[in-house]
Order: sequence, then structure tokens, then C-alpha cells
Amino acid sequence: VFRAFARKYGDIVSLRIGSREMWLVSRPDLIAQIFRDHHPHFEKDWGPRRGHYVLDGGIVTAEGADHRAQRTQFSRLFSRAAIAAQRDAIADAIEDWSNRRRDGETIDLHREMSFLGIDIAARVLFGSRIDLPSAHDMAEVVMALFRRWMVPFGRHVPRRNPRLQVAPIFEQLHRNRYREGLLSSLFDLPDSGPHIRTFLMAGQETIRLATSWSWFLISKHPEAGERMRAEGEPYAECVLEEAMRLYPPQWMVGKRAVDDYPLDGYVVPRGTTVLMSPYIVQRDERWFADAERFVPERWQHAEPNPAYFPFGGGARRCIGETFALVEGTMILSMLAKKWRFACEGNADLDAGLTLTPRSMMARVAAV
Ligand code: HEM
Repeated sequence: VFRAFARKYGDIVSLRIGSREMWLVSRPDLIAQIFRDHHPHFEKDWGPRRGHYVLDGGIVTAEGADHRAQRTQFSRLFSRAAIAAQRDAIADAIEDWSNRRRDGETIDLHREMSFLGIDIAARVLFGSRIDLPSAHDMAEVVMALFRRWMVPFGRHVPRRNPRLQVAPIFEQLHRNRYREGLLSSLFDLPDSGPHIRTFLMAGQETIRLATSWSWFLISKHPEAGERMRAEGEPYAECVLEEAMRLYPPQWMVGKRAVDDYPLDGYVVPRGTTVLMSPYIVQRDERWFADAERFVPERWQHAEPNPAYFPFGGGARRCIGETFALVEGTMILSMLAKKWRFACEGNADLDAGLTLTPRSMMARVAAV
């Protein structure tokens, strides 16, 4: 629907959804400007207010000086060198996942990518192990709530959900520690709950979607799979980037203007939500040749392109970007060496906060 609006009415479209005023902005230079101006002209939109009780106190909901302080604290922990030092832990989790596969079985690949993403997050972020099915169930509940909070036109969500059993997950993360993770120091803080919740959630569903869609696209383009097997990580990274272009895990980013904000000759009125969709912009022929086609090669010698923003931008750009790229690339290249996944039919889309397939059944074959 949003895409149809953007195509019909242009790069700045004003919408009224219920009682709320929203502007859908789809031109890369204007999007870059808004990301750059986040502080002090914008704040995060709907999520912080409606979803407070799960993420309150963490970096995702922080604003202003609190956000800046947390950003400085956590950026250090997510440095390129720190991520590189985690490669063995990532590889161990992938290896364990691979050892559970059987030639000829049928799996729900999207569900399985959740198990793998959670296992990697537990080991890398917290240096711990976690019971995957129960962590997955918790993540599903939280994501279902999220989808309703974060989508500006979503329904009202009750403030307390009895199925939200986060405490046992914390307890396990704490008890099963076996190594030093990127965020292990959080366990020493008196009130680490919001941070642990924030990072578990932010780092799970997104990478799961990126890898699921990568496998889906490869299954429909087997030649890309063969190339990935032959060339390893450099090509796997191109596959991942291309999958995130066509199916950006976070397909809509929203910011609320805290003052009247000039934009390309107009004024965004204070209180208005500005929506920016990587899904719309990254499938626009003006910025990507053959925009609807899956062409991983386009990333081989790519220059930075403001029309590509799966990780957002500016002061609130994804802090886990390097981790996500390393993790996703390793998942694709390591597993492609052992397995082929043939996805059945077309994935059935459920566009909430993320572009989520309801399921992704796949037949597993040994290479
Ligand atoms: C493919 C994987 C991922 C994608 C596509 C993605 C996407 C995004 C996007 C678009 C934002 C900006 C949201 C906004 O401006 O409103 C964001 C923020 C964030 N992401 Fe990611 N993310 C991914 C993986 C991760 C991982 C692995 C982690 C951590 C372990 C992570 C942690 C965060 C955090 C903490 C923020 C908030 C940063 C801030 O507000 O300063 N993300 N992510």
C-alpha cells in the first residue's frame, strides 16, 4: 500500500492514518538529511511510548544525552576488532546447527534461523548458552507485541502480557555462562535487564530475517548458491546485502519531528511522524538498475549508496551492523558448503514491523 502511494504521489506524501499525521519520504538525499538531523530535530517514534515496559532504559528507547552516553558505551563493545574476536564462537554455533541437520528432512527454515540467531546471540553477546525452543517462544511473543506497538497504525496492545516470560531466560543466560561475551560486563551492573532485553531482541529477529530471505532467494536462484559454495565469504556477503535490499528486515523506519522541520521547500509540522522505507527506496529503478531482480553481483564493487539503508543511518544507525554482517556472511558461507535448502512454493508475507514470512518450509539436501 505504501509503495503504491509513493509511486502515485511522489517522494514526499502526506498521509493521515486515524488521527495521526504522517509523511512518507522516499528520496535518498532527504532520507540522509533526516538521519543526519536526528538529534535534535527528531525522536524515535511510536515504539518508545507504547512499548516502554519491555525496552525502557535500553538504548533503543533512549533519547538525547542518555542516548549519547549509551551509544558511546556500547559502540566500543561492538568494534570491528571485538566482533572479529568472536568468530570462533559464531562458527561453533553454526557447526552445532549443521550437525542437527539430516539429509532429506524438511524443516521450517525461518524458525530454524531463529534458533541459530538466538544461539549465536547468547554465545557472542553474553558468553552463554540458552534453551533454544523456550527462547524462541519468548522471542515470538515479544515480536508479536512489537509488530503491534511499532506499526503506527497497529492496534492497541495491553501493557502486561502474562506470556512474556523473560525472567527464566535471564536466569539461564546468567547460570550457563562459559566464556567472555561482548556484553558480559552487563551482568555486573545492578540494572542490566533493559540492556539485555534490548540486545537480545534487536539482534535476533533482524538477522533471522536476513538469513531466511537469503536462503529463499538462493533456493530460487541455484546458480547463486553454487557461486557461494565456490567463492565463500566474499560472495556470501553480496548475497546477504542483496537479500536485505529486496527484503529489508526492518522495512520501515519512523521518526517524530520535535519541532517544525524544513524539508525540501516544505515544513514538516511538529509532532508529525516521518516514515522512511528501505523496502520502497531499495526497489526503486531510479537508484538500482533491474531493481526487482536478485543480482548479488551488484555488490561486488559497489560504492556507498544513500538509497541503500537497511541499517538506518545517522546517530541511530544500527549499532550491531558489523556483527550482523559477519554473522550473516558466516552462516551463509559455512552452511552452503554442507547443505542445499529447497524452499517450497512462495513465502507468505506478513508485513508488520518486519517483512516476516509466516513459514518457510524447505527440504534439506547434503552437498
Ligand atoms: C540484519 C540485521 C540487522 C538489521 C537489518 C538491523 C536494522 C536496524 C535499523 C534499521 C536500526 C535503526 C532503527 C531506527 O533508526 O529507528 C537498528 C538499530 C539498532 N540495532 Fe540493528 N539491525 C540488525 C542487527 C542488529 C544486531 C545483530 C544488533 C545487536 C546485537 C542490533 C542492535 C541494534 C540496536 C541496539 C539499535 C538501536 C541503536 C540506537 O538507537 O542507537 N541490530 N537496527
